[in-house]
Parts: sequence; C-alpha cells; structure tokens
Amino acid sequence: MKKNILITGGAGFIGSHVVRLFVNKYPVYQIINLDKLTYAGNLENLKDIQDKPNYTFIKGDITEPDFINELFTKYKFDGVIHLAAESHVDRSISDPMAFIYTNIIGTVNLLNAAKSLWTDFSSKLFYHISTDEVYGSLEKEGKFIETTPYDPQSPYSASKASSDHFVRAYHNTYKLPVIISNCSNNYGPNQFPEKLIPLAINNIKNNRPIPVYGKGENIRDWLYVEDHAAAIDLIFHKGKIGKTYNIGGNNEWKNIDLIYKLCEIADCKLNRTPGTSAKLITFVKDRAGHDLRYAIDSSKLEKNLGWKPSLQFEQKIEKTVEWYLDNEEWFKNILTREYEKYYERQYISR
Ligand code: NAD
Ligand code: DAU
Repeated sequence: MKKNILITGGAGFIGSHVVRLFVNKYPVYQIINLDKLTYAGNLENLKDIQDKPNYTFIKGDITEPDFINELFTKYKFDGVIHLAAESHVDRSISDPMAFIYTNIIGTVNLLNAAKSLWTDFSSKLFYHISTDEVYGSLEKEGKFIETTPYDPQSPYSASKASSDHFVRAYHNTYKLPVIISNCSNNYGPNQFPEKLIPLAINNIKNNRPIPVYGKGENIRDWLYVEDHAAAIDLIFHKGKIGKTYNIGGNNEWKNIDLIYKLCEIADCKLNRTPGTSAKLITFVKDRAGHDLRYAIDSSKLEKNLGWKPSLQFEQKIEKTVEWYLDNEEWFKNILTREYEKYYERQYISR
C-alpha cells in the first residue's frame, strides 16, 4: 500500500539504517527524511540511496512548529518514525538546554502537527524511538521490562523520558495512535565518534589514549544497529497502538572488557603485535551520575512479534571495527574543528 512516511533524524546513526531499510524494502512508500544536520547528522551515511525515486531529504528543525506544520500539510504523512534527538549523555551534562529543545519541544511539535493535521487517525501511526536509559540504572541483577518505573538519571535520559510521557499523554488524551520502543546501546557503522565504540576505534587507529570512565566497570547491553532497524520495521507494521516495546541485545559487556575486545580485533586488523592497542587504555574521571548497568528484557517483542536479536556479536563487532578502520574518508569528513574542540574539552582537560 502506498504511504508517505516521515522519518526524523534519518541522517544520524540509527536513522540512516532505518531510512536505508525502508527505502530499499518498500519501493512503494515515499520516505521523507527530515534532519537538521547537526554535528551528528551526515548525508554521507545515505549516499547509496540518495537518488532513489522513493526517497526525499529535507533539511529542517523539529523545534520549528510552523515549518513542521507546513511539512505535514504538504506531504500528508501516513506515518511518522521519530528518531531525531540530541543523543549523547556527556553533551547533555555540559549543555542540557539543547536536549530540552530538540528532545522535548521538538517531539511535542511533531505530536501537535499529527494531532491537528491528521483529520482521520485510522491507519495513521506516530512511532517514537526511545531509550532504555529512561528506566534508570540497574544493580548487578535484573532487567528492564516495559513496566519498569521511569527513573532517568542524566539530562539526556530525563529529556527522553519527558518526550515518552508526552507521546503517551497524546495517546491517552487525544487518542493519537502512537507506539514507543525503548532500546539498549546500538553499535555498527555510521555512529558519531563521541560514543564509546567509534571513539575507541578512532583513537586506536590514531594512537591516541582510549578514555575509560571510572574503572570501566559499567555495563551496557549492545545491539547491532541493523537488528534495531529490523525491530523498528516490525513494530511499525505489526506493533499494537498505544503499546511500548523494549528492544535489547541480550549481550551485556563491562566497558573495560569491550574495550579490550576492540583492541584485540584492531591489533589483528592493523597487523600490530597483540597487546599494542591495549597500552592506549587510559582511566579518566568518571562521567557524572554514571549509570552502572543497563539490561533489557525484550521477550514481549520476541513473543508477540517474533523479533530476535542476531546472536553473532563476535562477527558483528569485528565487521564494525573493520568498517571504522577502512572508512578513512567518512572520518575525515566528520572530524571537524568542532569535534576536536569537543574532544579537547572532554578529555584533554580532564
Ligand atoms: P544521532 O545523534 O546519531 O542522530 C540524531 C539525528 O537527529 C542527527 O542526524 C541530527 O542531525 C538529527 N537532529 C538533531 N536535532 C534535530 C532537530 N532539532 N531537528 C531535526 N533533526 C535533528 O542519534 P542516534 O544514536 O542515531 O539515535 C537516534 C534515536 O534513537 C534517538 O532518539 C536516540 O535517543 C534513540 N536511541 C539511541 C540509541 C543508541 O545507542 N544510539 C539507543 C536507543 C535509542
Ligand atoms: O542505552 C541506550 C543509550 O546508549 C542511548 O540512548 C544513547 O543515545 C547512546 O549514546 C548510549 O548511551 P551511553 O551513555 O550508554 O553510550 P556511550 O557510548 O556514550 O557510553 C557507553 C559506556 O562507555 C558508558 O558506560 C560510558 C562509557 N564511556 C563512554 C565514552 C564516550 C567511556 O568509558 N569512555 C568514553 O570515552
């Protein structure tokens, strides 16, 4: 069936994989990618599909209500997959306002446009992409389920939690057809190198210190980004209106163990003597309010919709390291002066 689908944040890390999947898999859909192209947005992530007839890119800001309303009027979207966000916890600690504008106000602008410009809610869907960080931090045991009470700890997760609450409120109050999914840490190609995995690989490659926060004891549940995109596809088409789905990798790693793994793979790919890259590991001041552990129980999604994460972490992480080592040009184009300044503020001054 023909559909006009708005994907926000499609030039970013996860968004680019979602846009590619939808453009290639559903030639009958028109995919409109709306992205402000902040430091994290990069059209190079989509150069293989940019000329496809069912793909349109629009540069714009979700915090501007008039522009958003015009877009809804022009394209008469059947569905929205909302990924645009400020996404990095460390940046939310130094500049929380940017997170409030984009993650909260931007989301509410989109909700308002859908509420007032969708004349008939049947067969429409506003799908909001969120994070497991809204649930707070776990101790050594247990996993987040869909009904775990919200307990966000960072300005980033507080802004995402707030946006989730608004999405639910628009469903409860105005019957807007919404779905939310909350996912664990993603890894794979196209991630901006402020996040642990691409940052560590880039530093290994350039013989720079690999900054490990605190003792490296924090635990994250890593999911390959294409598995997340596949879950989003499934939920968008088969998810139940008004419901929430958790998405996770069932793949917990202590940061320090993961970093050793990256060093080991990089040594092999770069023909370095085993142990060379690990010498770059440098323990630095911990992140303020650093959540100890995230782990997601995605059994609802698995049972109800038949999704499963691919259980090939070894291959996928190897492929990921290789991608970052090989894509010299991609790094060159995104590592701007802004990045260097950020890196300096973040690490050199610690
Ligand atoms: P990202 O930072 O790589 O990409 C975000 C994109 O949003 C960028 O292309 C950026 O240009 C765009 N954007 C930012 N502000 C905008 C604005 N005001 N208007 C329009 N576009 C704007 O983020 P990501 O890691 O791909 O995350 C995408 C979504 O998934 C976010 O909502 C994030 O909270 C969520 N999420 C991320 C992860 C993860 O591990 N990365 C896990 C779970 C959920
Ligand atoms: O859980 C989902 C979330 O995962 C998403 O909602 C966020 O958008 C995404 O950024 C990610 O958040 P994290 O804070 O977990 O990811 P990050 O890659 O920044 O850090 C992963 C872990 O590594 C975390 O415990 C902090 C640590 N870390 C991070 C960096 C950048 C380091 O030890 N050194 C570093 O240099």
